[in-house]
Amino acid sequence: MDHRKRVHVFRNQEETSAFLRRRWSEISAESVSRRGFFAVALSGGKTPVPFYTSMAETRIDLPWERTHLFLADERFLPLDHPDSNCRLLQQTLLTMKQLPPENVHPVPVETTGLRATARASARRYERDLTRFFKISPGQFPCFDLILLGIGEDGHTASLFPGSAALTERRHLAAPVVLDPVRHHRITLTLPVINHADNVLFLVTGENKAGVVRKVVCREDLSLPASRVRPESGNLDFILDEDAGSQLTRQECGAS
Ligand code: 6PG
Repeated sequence: MDHRKRVHVFRNQEETSAFLRRRWSEISAESVSRRGFFAVALSGGKTPVPFYTSMAETRIDLPWERTHLFLADERFLPLDHPDSNCRLLQQTLLTMKQLPPENVHPVPVETTGLRATARASARRYERDLTRFFKISPGQFPCFDLILLGIGEDGHTASLFPGSAALTERRHLAAPVVLDPVRHHRITLTLPVINHADNVLFLVTGENKAGVVRKVVCREDLSLPASRVRPESGNLDFILDEDAGSQLTRQECGAS
């Protein structure tokens, strides 16, 4: 097992959410005391919805005034479209009002007009990230926490198997061209994900058990999620028993 890779298997989704709330609380407190703010990038999908809802209701005292919320990926859609990740957050986590609106940093999708392309949105998102983190060209931002999911095909954020975005080494955000059902996307790139201090994968459900095993054990590096390997940060897999059902303690160091 890698030095900083940990696998946590919980009985059910409620326990995964409770664990994530504790990690969020610890990481945000540490980040605020060290650098004065807490920068987190969140994913869409169905899996994190109960966690986001529970965060909106939590009584834990969290440093919301100093929390800055970004997205790991976004669909190239208007922000009020039912499939928009920003909309998902507005309807779950952001129903609580303590987070100042200016601390929410959506991917600047502009879907009308001649210059409206996923590539242009990715460039604008990159510019926003560069300004927020005050970094120079060639540097990568350091998120305190990036929360990711895994698709059955091994994608994570909007990094899909075989996608050109996987080879991006310079840009912070990349456009991803997909079919109309999955929509075109904008995603953080692997160098950004791998510069984070903490990357947490949240995966639940039996349909993910096979891919979880491959990713945790790094059996198949063609799976984008297997390429997530923080350079000096922590990597945690937070699973329910169904998603972790194909792991063994010896093979994967599951706890
Ligand atoms: C998204 C994601 C994506 C997601 C996986 C898993 O916006 O859709 O960031 O990478 O995490 O597709 O999705 P589910 O949680 O719905 O299975």
